[in-house]
Amino acid sequence: MNPFSLAHKTILVTGASSGIGAEAARMISKSGARVIITARNEERLKATFNSLEGSNHGYVLADLTNEEDIKNLIDQIDHLDGVVHSSGIVRPFPIKFIGAKQIDEMYGANYYGPVVLTSKLFRAKKINAGASLVFMSSISSKFPHKGGALYSGSKAALNSFSKTIALEYAPQKIRSNVISAAMVRTPLFDEAEKAISKEMMDKHGEDYPLGFGDPEDIGHAILFLLSGGSRWITGTEIVMDGGLSAGH
Ligand SMILES: NC(=O)c1ccc[n+]([C@@H]2O[C@H](COP(=O)([O-])OP(=O)(O)OC[C@H]3O[C@@H](n4cnc5c(N)ncnc54)[C@H](OP(=O)(O)O)[C@@H]3O)[C@@H](O)[C@H]2O)c1
Repeated sequence: MNPFSLAHKTILVTGASSGIGAEAARMISKSGARVIITARNEERLKATFNSLEGSNHGYVLADLTNEEDIKNLIDQIDHLDGVVHSSGIVRPFPIKFIGAKQIDEMYGANYYGPVVLTSKLFRAKKINAGASLVFMSSISSKFPHKGGALYSGSKAALNSFSKTIALEYAPQKIRSNVISAAMVRTPLFDEAEKAISKEMMDKHGEDYPLGFGDPEDIGHAILFLLSGGSRWITGTEIVMDGGLSAGH
């Protein structure tokens, strides 16, 4: 049997209306798994749904900062063999502008959402033994940037959460890992470019030996982490940064 096959698996992908989540959902469907996708924007989520290969997939609209939406999402899910947590936001907040509102916004989307969804999935016994959880994190959890205190902190907190899942659920052979990515060309990248200017982004790109990433680059690692080919990998991170941190 091919250890990298995803056949007969059911995978939930959050943040599937855009960028990495949308591409990962398509790639997972091509690998033979059934995919349930979720996000808030119906038009974009449906566009991803219509691009999935094969049949029997599903989509559920949910704002993952809303507990009722999380409950509704879980009610509509059977048992899962994997979850890809790709939902998330980036907002620059210089330190002197940080208050409760900004913390709620950033940690609501980047920490509360994936953490509460995971907790409730476990409580509802919807995660099968042998399942694999993948969280989209960022190299800025280790290498913060100016204005990124809340974003970096929310991703660092997510990294710790993933490690704790690895410890608590190893007896059921449930694995949890994060992908710590540097800049990947998605709508979120475009927002960052607008915020700082194209010239500065191009200059930043010169520090990447392999250039900026594309969503399918991340998708390949997600496929590996979801598959049995990574069955001895848990509680860790895959750094995907085109070589950016190699010289640091
Ligand atoms: N692109 C990069 O350079 C990069 C680098 C490192 C890490 N990452 C991480 O990778 C993940 C995906 O990034 P991306 O570039 O693909 O971003 P993206 O294109 O902006 O997609 C983000 C996704 O998150 C969903 N989302 C945001 N807030 C949500 C909420 N409250 N409830 C439910 N869904 C929500 C959005 O869907 P709706 O708006 O439809 O809800 C969208 O589908 C993020 O966690 C990001 O932090 C990205």
